Amino acid sequence: MLERIGHMLVRKANQEEKRPVFDEAGEIPRHIAVIMDGNGRWAKMRNLPRIAGHRSGMKTVKEIVKAADGIGVKTMTMYAFSTENWKRPREEVDYLMKLPQEFLSTELEELIERNVRVRMLGNPEGLPAHTIEAMNIAEERTRHNTGLQLNFALNYGSRTELVRAFRELARQVQAGTIQPEEVDEEMIARHLYTSDLPDPDLLIRTSGEIRLSNFMLWQMAYTELWFTDVLWPDFTKEHFYQAIAEYQGRARRYGAV
Ligand code: IPE
Ligand code: IPE
Ligand code: MG
Repeated sequence: MLERIGHMLVRKANQEEKRPVFDEAGEIPRHIAVIMDGNGRWAKMRNLPRIAGHRSGMKTVKEIVKAADGIGVKTMTMYAFSTENWKRPREEVDYLMKLPQEFLSTELEELIERNVRVRMLGNPEGLPAHTIEAMNIAEERTRHNTGLQLNFALNYGSRTELVRAFRELARQVQAGTIQPEEVDEEMIARHLYTSDLPDPDLLIRTSGEIRLSNFMLWQMAYTELWFTDVLWPDFTKEHFYQAIAEYQGRARRYGAV
């Protein structure tokens, strides 16, 4: 049980133990990136097919999006399908491609009510038409919303994203519209899918894997990384608050002293 006392959110266990989870008046990460991992292992532990893990993971997405919105996070980027995930069995890929529709069919109205803006980050080429259509409808219907910016990284790969940016810049150099010397960090950042977003302040990865798996390599140069062994379907808003509490305890130096 969480209880609000002053500006602190505390865990209500008994009268003696009121443990602060995170400081609501402290810095809330503006942009949180999430590698939602461990759905398959969650299902395997229960002798269920992997897709049952993905279905269960969708419930976690709903809970964490609400929690993030509730505490004033501005941007959430959820890694839903990587450019490498095409290597999975056809049946699993087909199911994952149906999830955006399934998620949005039950959630879109509430997201609209919450003033959430939904967007897809990634390469639409290669995605089934029904998946693109579901994302387009969500983007279109939430385009003018000014609340939480909710990004789904779908058919997303950081290296593909960088290749696309460098090709576009090379074309501009070839056309003579820019000089090679004009290419700088800011210009590269502007050619990524995340062009109008701040870099993530915090990365959360579940399931005990300690790697980035081709997720926002450029954008996460100075992101605080937080890993947990909890599998994504078991991840709750209390775990999420714990990540924020630990983030608040870190000193971000960016190379300075
Ligand atoms: C994350 O869970 C979901 C996606 C990658 C789409 P996994 O499916 O990777 O689950 P594990 O890692 O096999 O347990
Ligand atoms: C990363 O998880 C991709 C997503 C969560 C969508 P993976 O399960 O695909 O990553 P690896 O293969 O363990 O690195
Ligand atoms: Mg995995």
